[in-house]
Amino acid sequence: MADTLHPDKLQSDPVLRDGTHLSDLIDMDMREVKMRVLSDPDLYEIEMKKIFARCWLLVGHESEIPNKGDFIQRDMGSDSVIVAKDAKGDIHVSLNVCPHRGMRITTLESGNASSHVCIYHGWAFKPNGDFIGSPIASECMHGTMRSKEELGLRKARVAIWGGLIFATFDQDGPSFEEFMGDAKWYFDTLFDRTDSGMELLGPPQRFNIRANWKTACEQSAADGFHTLTLHRWLAEVGPYAKKPDAEGKGGDLSPEMYGCEVWTDHGHALRCIELDRKIARLTGKDPDTLTVEEKLTALPPPGITREMVPELLRRFSKEQLEIMAWRPPQVGGFFPNGLFEFIYLPQPDGTIVGAMALHVYVPKGPDKLEFTNYIFAERDTPPELKAKMLRLSIQMLGTSGLVEQDDSDTWPHQTLAAKGAVSKDITLKYQACYDNKGPENWPGPGHVGEGFTKDDTQWAWWRYYHELMTAPD
Ligand code: FES
Ligand SMILES: [Fe+2]
Repeated sequence: MADTLHPDKLQSDPVLRDGTHLSDLIDMDMREVKMRVLSDPDLYEIEMKKIFARCWLLVGHESEIPNKGDFIQRDMGSDSVIVAKDAKGDIHVSLNVCPHRGMRITTLESGNASSHVCIYHGWAFKPNGDFIGSPIASECMHGTMRSKEELGLRKARVAIWGGLIFATFDQDGPSFEEFMGDAKWYFDTLFDRTDSGMELLGPPQRFNIRANWKTACEQSAADGFHTLTLHRWLAEVGPYAKKPDAEGKGGDLSPEMYGCEVWTDHGHALRCIELDRKIARLTGKDPDTLTVEEKLTALPPPGITREMVPELLRRFSKEQLEIMAWRPPQVGGFFPNGLFEFIYLPQPDGTIVGAMALHVYVPKGPDKLEFTNYIFAERDTPPELKAKMLRLSIQMLGTSGLVEQDDSDTWPHQTLAAKGAVSKDITLKYQACYDNKGPENWPGPGHVGEGFTKDDTQWAWWRYYHELMTAPD
């Protein structure tokens, strides 16, 4: 991927109030970003418009609203939305702002309603956002200057994928499939694996952090290096501890950082970590001598049991199955503000239990984000395994979990440093690049690098950020 932007993409290079251009802050040749970008209030406002009002954003999962009339309230950037199921079972996403005088239509986090009535003056709306009427119809409280069609809630485009609900307010932008691009081929193997689909194990956890949303999101674009230091304890204590070899090497997480990393032109990122060592330990056999089916049966993906493996064999292509059995995506991000984790956790009894979680980092101002943690299993996952997955996900990946506590400790420090008169000009650096295009036999699409983790995925995140921020309005 060339690092030089086409001049057309710079037509709308944002200018901050001191005259600095965004393009002065992101050095495409050096792969550096000035820290000021992390916390600048001018940029934050532009991000809400150019990124969060345009991109496809994750707003929930259909298992949260199983019945007709069910709804949840979520945020798309700085805008609150109602995600609702109508009488026909279709899911709609509408702006949670009354077109009369701007009151929130619902102030509840979730509920069930056949119509949504604004508590201020009583205008009523269907779950799909259409205007029903005002309370004093005989007096035509809503006047005659606008038609009923014009008085509905602002509607977003909706895409349902593996039960995940995505929405965008960009009516003319790319389709969901175009936006996901090459990443969808991989994400299908995570989010859309079984006929019954996934389910959320309880409402998402939410936690506010005093940090800019980008500190969490650029890390989510498959930052691997921090694992060795920030999460160092993982290799040192409990069932995750790694024993050094006779020469004292390997007592850390570095073996987990080998594999392939994939990135796309839309800033999505995947770290595909090799399973060979785990499979060799579980089977006592050389993984190269095993078929894909044997490997998947020995170590099924998180949330999948041996009995469910035939379903995977039926649903996926030979190439996708190969990735799932060899180097499946285990962590990574979907642009702009999502992270996925499908990880294999060794247990004290020698078994391995999977955990599946999605995080959405909702911006709440230049210096605040809401960490939203969705914990999943397959609907067909046996209840006892679901209970283990839920416990492990909360222990490790939740907002109070051991791993994510480490991560969220760094973000406020970076956000504060981004305001320092001197430190705001320090640059974030992404100069550890792959010198290869992945293994020759890599069966999947996208930009691929092979070996120890590198910075390419995170730089692709910034590159797409820059592309959107400098795109014409
Ligand atoms: S603000 Fe909603 S009915 Fe008036
Ligand atoms: Fe981390």
